Amino acid sequence: MIKAVRGTRDLLPPETALWNFVEAAVRDVFRTYNFHEIRTPIFESTELFARGVGEETDIVSKEMYTWEDRGRAASEKGQMLTLRPENTAGVVRAYIEHKLWDHGLNKLYYIGPQFRRERPQKGRYRQFYQIGAEVLGPASSGSQRPLRDAEVLEMLATLLDRLRIKDWTLEINSVGSSKDRAAYNEVLRKALDPLAPMMCTDCQRRAVTNPLRVFDCKVPADQVIIEGLPRISDYLDSESREHFENVQALLRAAKVEFKINHRLVRGLDYYTRTAFEFTHGALGAQNAILGGGRYDGLSEALGGPPAPGIGFAMGEDRLILALQELMPTISKAPDAYIAPLGEGMNRQAIRLAAELRRQNLVIELGDRSFKLGKLLETAAKLGARYAVIVGENEVASNIFALKNLATGEQVDVPRTELAKKIQT
Ligand code: HAM
Repeated sequence: MIKAVRGTRDLLPPETALWNFVEAAVRDVFRTYNFHEIRTPIFESTELFARGVGEETDIVSKEMYTWEDRGRAASEKGQMLTLRPENTAGVVRAYIEHKLWDHGLNKLYYIGPQFRRERPQKGRYRQFYQIGAEVLGPASSGSQRPLRDAEVLEMLATLLDRLRIKDWTLEINSVGSSKDRAAYNEVLRKALDPLAPMMCTDCQRRAVTNPLRVFDCKVPADQVIIEGLPRISDYLDSESREHFENVQALLRAAKVEFKINHRLVRGLDYYTRTAFEFTHGALGAQNAILGGGRYDGLSEALGGPPAPGIGFAMGEDRLILALQELMPTISKAPDAYIAPLGEGMNRQAIRLAAELRRQNLVIELGDRSFKLGKLLETAAKLGARYAVIVGENEVASNIFALKNLATGEQVDVPRTELAKKIQT
């Protein structure tokens, strides 16, 4: 038997109804905050992620699905391509490619699959879905201002409340400007020098190549050492400090609760200043429901003009896991089941079904080769509220037997009034 590949999964009904519910709700919230949808390709050139996300990150160094495309001629070397592990680099590439700075401030959102070769477990998949948004533009559009950070965070609090997710915690930090980061990286490198030999092999490598990435370490034994390392907040310049204070003041004004986490640096290299994560208690080990932050230098790193930006991505799979605890299913049962009886009645039934569906009713269609008993049994199993019996007498008189499947009560209803009667 051929099975879905490890770390990928089929999303089946009724769960897909919950996915649709979530996507409709987030699209509605994005609309009221004046965000517009962007769809970028699912694969991009490998270089985009190497330069955007950072060579030394876990994502780029070990989790990407990368392959060499075929060259046009047999002798020609093919381009290196990668299934996108995240969507921010793709959005910034599109911003540069289509000169979106002409629009001033861009508020863009996306919903779609991402791919990372991580060890699969509950809440962690190799194909997973993100709902994300990015706010970016030239400095003249105000994209670097703390108000934009606060607006994104306030929108997220609204979104989670709207989805009735209650037990979330917002943690924020500032990872400073790229200059602050460089200075802090040196401090870390020195601090790690005597400590690294006691740490895991990944950390020993990170201590030399990109010390900040030590904070991504999940090895329990390393955590005491990590806890004792210098804090980035002590190495922020006055502008980054002021930016962070302004974001906090705006969040208080918007009544968005948050905690400061000095260890939060996020696992991607493009972050500057504000970094944040929302966690949710019910999710266990994979409790980060979403993460994001500012990436003021990313456009330049990808060869574009300065375009400060901030954004986030929410793990839709994790969001659904949290929601399943609250509302296991929301799929809609049919309003009515059409039960055709007797010769030629399928033709009548398919016409009646189309008529009722045009009035926005959910209709399931039975087949006259089954007996009435079997038809009613199927209707009940589907959870249909009504069965409409379509027999020769009904068609001749244009009056149909409508059976309420919960009470068993049956009434005769003229064709023109059927939809109204089913709706009530
Ligand atoms: P990230 O923290 O790598 O950030 O991913 C964001 C969210 O995607 C995580 O908080 C988690 O909920 C979900 N996620 C990540 N990996 C998996 C996985 N293997 N299985 C299930 N869910 C997963 C980014 O991707 C950035 N692009 C976010 C961003 C946007 N920053 C600025 N703009």
